[in-house]
Amino acid sequence: EKGGYEHFMLKEIYEQPNAIIDTYRGRMLVNEGIVRMAGVDDNIERLANAKRILIVACGTSWHAGLVAEYIFEDFARIPVEVEYASEFRYRNPIIYENDVVIAISQSGETADTMAAIKLAKEKGAFVFGVCNVVGSSISRESHAGAYTHAGPEIGVASTKAFTTQITVLTMIALKLAKHRGTISDSDFRYHLQELDRIPAKISKVLEANDHIKLIADKYKEAPNCLYLGRGYNFPVALEGALKLKEISYIHAEGYPAAEMKHGPIALIDEQMPVVVIATKKGHYEKVVSNIQEIKSRKGKIIGIVTEGDEAVRDLADYVIEIPETIESLTPLLTTIPLQLLSYHIAVMLGKNVDQPRNLAKSVTVE
Ligand code: F6R
Repeated sequence: EKGGYEHFMLKEIYEQPNAIIDTYRGRMLVNEGIVRMAGVDDNIERLANAKRILIVACGTSWHAGLVAEYIFEDFARIPVEVEYASEFRYRNPIIYENDVVIAISQSGETADTMAAIKLAKEKGAFVFGVCNVVGSSISRESHAGAYTHAGPEIGVASTKAFTTQITVLTMIALKLAKHRGTISDSDFRYHLQELDRIPAKISKVLEANDHIKLIADKYKEAPNCLYLGRGYNFPVALEGALKLKEISYIHAEGYPAAEMKHGPIALIDEQMPVVVIATKKGHYEKVVSNIQEIKSRKGKIIGIVTEGDEAVRDLADYVIEIPETIESLTPLLTTIPLQLLSYHIAVMLGKNVDQPRNLAKSVTVE
């Protein structure tokens, strides 16, 4: 059942190229320059004319929502707010009838996310579900939706659900952008072509597994770890930190790289590993200067860089390369080494990777 892998988590990490293909198969017609998604097409006016999109989710799905905020605002030019479902539901939130609420949930059973969409429906919003489990409660409660089609995710730590959520949300954002005229036809096609190249590029990143294992061995005893990113990769930093905490029980925090100087940089000493996402597109120069600040305080730097990078390589203790792609798609690549890093650290520490202590796969109680 684990297909020859030692753990479900590792299997599911390696399934990501195919999972993403399954997500866009039949929907994205690259040569024709078309994306077909019934849940979007049937409600295109409601979605594309939304004054505002509210995204509600928990945990890793909330991180996918944060990535989606950048994508929707960048391409479709619709204002987006991303909310923890648990905060949203108890805050007496302002919800307008022309708001669209997108609920993101792998299991489709998360109690807080479910309660958030019920509230949004009562207030007249249009609710769109992005779920993995077909027929799940959230998918049934939504007015419309799109499944991620990642296949069953057994490992408690979410991996392929996250990357397929980003894939679905990217396709939706592109469709809304096209309808609203905020993306050119050629850019639209170019994005489809690049998305189509992502699975092969993930396979390429997976080839770094042995190298990542070496890095894991080097830092597995660290009591703390920081993850930094900017722009599209800020949510990936949060996700990298969550993955490490939940399966290895090492304390980790994700931050926008520029926030370091507002407090967290005080934590840096020669014991502190800092994972920095420093890909070529996406504020590269600024991230390099953030790395210099860490370096001068003797922090240990693990850089996630674009193939062929030299500046970060010179500063970092280790680098992990990812193939080049357009900025909005980099999270689909930068996430992969962070998943593997957590996985190997947890295995080396003898932790129960697939069923970490105190956690459940679907959180059906609030
Ligand atoms: C982290 C993880 C959790 C879930 C969260 C939401 O790896 O698995 O943070 O992402 O409990 O679950 P879903 O997506 O099922 O609503």
